[in-house]
Amino acid sequence: MLEKVSTILKMADESNTAVISFICTDYNMVYSVVTTAEKTNTPALVMLLPEHYEKNNTMNVHGFAEMVKELAESVKVPIGLHLDHSYDYDSVITSIKKGFDSVMIDASAYSLDENIALTRKVTETAHILGADVEAEIGHVGLAQDCDGDKTDYYTKADAAARFYQETNVDSLAIAIGNAHGVYVETPHLDIQRLEEINAATDVPLVLHGGSGIPHDQLEIAFRKGINKFNVGTEFLSVYYDAVKEYVHMMEGNDKPLKMLEVPEFVQTRLCEYLEEKMKLSTNHESLSQPIMKIGY
Ligand code: 13P
Repeated sequence: MLEKVSTILKMADESNTAVISFICTDYNMVYSVVTTAEKTNTPALVMLLPEHYEKNNTMNVHGFAEMVKELAESVKVPIGLHLDHSYDYDSVITSIKKGFDSVMIDASAYSLDENIALTRKVTETAHILGADVEAEIGHVGLAQDCDGDKTDYYTKADAAARFYQETNVDSLAIAIGNAHGVYVETPHLDIQRLEEINAATDVPLVLHGGSGIPHDQLEIAFRKGINKFNVGTEFLSVYYDAVKEYVHMMEGNDKPLKMLEVPEFVQTRLCEYLEEKMKLSTNHESLSQPIMKIGY
């Protein structure tokens, strides 16, 4: 069933874990997330990254939102719809009007005061329109730029506390050694910093750049306050590998109608990956039962 992202994050918080939020570009990815969530009884979030439809012409915003809603209503497990990194007021509000009830405004490249001002402006309008807002404090950069010491960009607990109080956001993305894309070297999450931020705020915390972070670190981060965990690069790379595998398998058998078999093949591979990944949400010793049992 379609559920508000803030409600799903509250469930994750109460269960001391994180819900995984997958960047999706098309029906194959969304279908795979929703059906695997149902199979494993694990709530999940589906995200659209504006850059993907703006630069790569992958989807249209309204169509994506409707597709997710229809698929979500076909299962019992809670599924949330979320718009990932948006950088200006107008595009966030337009996406809400086109069907997204959870959005991210990312003004983390600005000064703290500017970030607060833009985030507050978005939050005020979004809340009137019934949408949840995620924002970012500190700056989660690109993994390719993060092979050195970038702790200047890490989130500071006192700034996070002020940010939360002055913006009224529904979730907060933080920088603790995570980064987007393919890591140059194994990341090491600053768990002590995470604990400080979690103690200083009363808001679900979000970890971006989920691809490539070792699972043992993730499990600790989920226990220490991360309630939403974003994955993109890894999921897209499984998709790409599945297409390559299919093409390789079909070499010499290139009838046009073979194209119709691609989605089913790809979905099988995506679901295999997702089933493993979703175990992260439920695998804690601290949990007597999976969070999926909550909510319906
Ligand atoms: P990765 O592509 O590194 O998994 O990051 C995804 C993300 O954080 C989207 O906001």
